[in-house]
Amino acid sequence: MIQIAPSMLAADFLHLGRDVEMVNKNADLFHLDIMDGTFVPNISYGFPVVEAIAKVARKPLDVHLMIVHPEKYIERFARIGVSMLSFHLNATDKPAQALLHIRETGMKAGLVINPDMPVESLYPYLHLCDYIILMSVYAGFGGQKFIEDIYDRIRTLKKEIDRLGLSVKIEVDGGVSPVNSKPLIEAGAEILVAGSSVFNSDSPADVISAMRG
Ligand code: DX5
Ligand code: ZN
Repeated sequence: MIQIAPSMLAADFLHLGRDVEMVNKNADLFHLDIMDGTFVPNISYGFPVVEAIAKVARKPLDVHLMIVHPEKYIERFARIGVSMLSFHLNATDKPAQALLHIRETGMKAGLVINPDMPVESLYPYLHLCDYIILMSVYAGFGGQKFIEDIYDRIRTLKKEIDRLGLSVKIEVDGGVSPVNSKPLIEAGAEILVAGSSVFNSDSPADVISAMRG
């Protein structure tokens, strides 16, 4: 079953309650992008926004960390009630420890890589992951152009997950819309993140249902 995770970075922050309710009604997860201006050049939002959403969310929170030292904040996100926590493989020199720590808190653990990092670099950690986020844009900004070579990357990763007999889910993040959702699902993606295609639309609910295929 495919899951749609609207990226709240593209929501209208002056009407955040309305956009949260739209996700509660129509989607499966809240995708929350945390950027620190150091690991990526952009700064997004932090704990006050995540806490405010957590209070009214009826769907799980999927937090995507684009920060240095992600291990420092694991406990804090767990306390807020986050269900899924991911960080970039190159954001820490101890990814295995951080993944184990995330799982110990009861959250699902995810690793993320940008389009220029080989999928093979994930292989040593797959048994410690509940999901992998393959970026189909370079992490840092919403509204970027989808990078097409993601399909081969999904297939390669999926093959290795199956070979190992694991049930790691593949999430795709960046430039996802009803135009590419079908081939992404066919290649093996199970979670689709979509920011601008959902929130820049006059009918977010229709865009979400179109992506379910
Ligand atoms: C990019 C973020 C994405 C982004 C997706 O750094 O990780 O989650 O908000 O937005 P769109 O769908 O507009 O590319
Ligand atoms: Zn993201």
